[in-house]
Amino acid sequence: MEALRETGFGEILALCGGCCSCATCHVYVDPAFLSQLPGQSADEDALLESSSHRRETSRLSCQIPLSDGLDGLAIVIAPED
Ligand code: FES
Repeated sequence: MEALRETGFGEILALCGGCCSCATCHVYVDPAFLSQLPGQSADEDALLESSSHRRETSRLSCQIPLSDGLDGLAIVIAPED
């Protein structure tokens, strides 16, 4: 989420600052990278479940720690609920 905000590309609100309590950092992740991401917490799953735009590739970007293994990761910012 922080890397996304720093790019200035797209509009991502991230209202809670990464505390996993707002879901305004919802993104769709390239399926090729899904297996490399940490599992979803119950809080993340519940927040995504409240979104009418949830897909199988949905994640909250603030819950994705960047690493070298994610080099080339492609995401799409989900529509606002
Ligand atoms: S920034 Fe609020 S849930 Fe990600």
